[in-house]
Amino acid sequence: MNALAHKRILLGVTGGVAAYKSAELVRRLREHEAEVRVVMTRSASLFIGPQTLEALSGERVYCELFDPASPSAMPHIDLARWCDAVLIAPASAHLLAKLAHGLADDLLSTLCLAATAPIVVAPAMNREMWLAPSTQVNRAILLERGVRFLGPGEGEQACGETGPGRMLEVPEVLEGLAAVFEPALLSGVRVLVTAGPTREAIDPVRFLGNRSSGKMGYALAEAMREMGASVLLISGPVHLPAPRGVERVMVESAADMAAAVTSRVVDCEIFVATAAVADYRCRAPAGHKIRRTGELLTLELEPTPDILATVAARPAAPFTVGFAAETEGIDGGLADLAGRKLVAKGIDMIVANHVGEPGQGFESDDNELLVSWHAGERLLPRAPKTRLARQLVPIIAERFRAKGQAQGPGPTSRA
Ligand code: PMT
Repeated sequence: MNALAHKRILLGVTGGVAAYKSAELVRRLREHEAEVRVVMTRSASLFIGPQTLEALSGERVYCELFDPASPSAMPHIDLARWCDAVLIAPASAHLLAKLAHGLADDLLSTLCLAATAPIVVAPAMNREMWLAPSTQVNRAILLERGVRFLGPGEGEQACGETGPGRMLEVPEVLEGLAAVFEPALLSGVRVLVTAGPTREAIDPVRFLGNRSSGKMGYALAEAMREMGASVLLISGPVHLPAPRGVERVMVESAADMAAAVTSRVVDCEIFVATAAVADYRCRAPAGHKIRRTGELLTLELEPTPDILATVAARPAAPFTVGFAAETEGIDGGLADLAGRKLVAKGIDMIVANHVGEPGQGFESDDNELLVSWHAGERLLPRAPKTRLARQLVPIIAERFRAKGQAQGPGPTSRA
């Protein structure tokens, strides 16, 4: 389905090296049969010529709030009423600040104030500018008001530094924009997602942990929310902000995560276990910091509770989706290992990822997923985790419906 067909997209372009991507965006939007009108800020026109975007969009490009040559006396109102969505890509730190504080000193910021259509932004800036407290406060304000953020991604930047602040690539921006128009596949469905690592205490200052950053689980929680679900995220210690509209509970150890899941799972219809839960913990963590002696140190480990298997074994279990982190790839038996976990844990679906492959799995922005259920499987090729999450949610929704749990028993009958 092409959710962008016949949609009217107002593309705002602000100043930054990533402005060159807006030409490709216009081209792809038109290929998706969207109508596109472009509004550029003054600094954007230092990076890309309006003529380019005019030729690609087949429409006049708007630059000035007060333009005697404009066919409209009030372009900010006319454009705001015309569009089905405002997409600002790239969105500079300055533009985000203006939107957050209601400033209206040029055509783009003014029409955003007047717009009733959804506003979607794809930020692009230096990593320190993105991480600056003021930008993060502005982001939080805008999220709270319903502005959708696509990215930014992490990686090498035009300034030569590396970190968060890269504008997402055009296909990801298009997918994020399309999500605005897609039917809410999980409307009203209650979902519980676990994410991130757990920490198992060795003593008061040390722990057993793992490399999970939470990115995969957070992307899934966000995608499920976007598709209408009511999402509870139970997260191990990570540095990510809670996705907008998602209730989050932070936990530390496998036991904490098990307790949080047990107390809330009764209310949920879909359970997705993305967390990298420790399989073992210290049987008796030391009460004081263990001193260095130069001798061998042996830690006695015991298994942690298997949260996923416990949820799947409940009498009125939700639709259960597990993740399998394997160091073997597709050719090394990934499907077999995942299939065994599907059966052993008694779950409905397993999503396997090859965590031994550089650049995907733990910590990185990308992943590749092999999704298996009892009657089929699908490979989601390597892509950013945000994109994979948007591809995975419709598969989960379809299998969930197929299992006939759409109208599953309510909370009281699960108790
Ligand atoms: O967080 P990121 O950096 O983005 O990385 C993403 C990821 C690699 C962590 C994620 O994609 C992933 O694979 N998560 C599952 C990791 C894992 O613990 O795999 P496993 O094969 O050891 O466990 C199988 C399943 O059992 C998982 O769904 C896990 O949540 C669950 N489990 C495991 C142990 C336990 N005690 N309780 C559980 O519920």
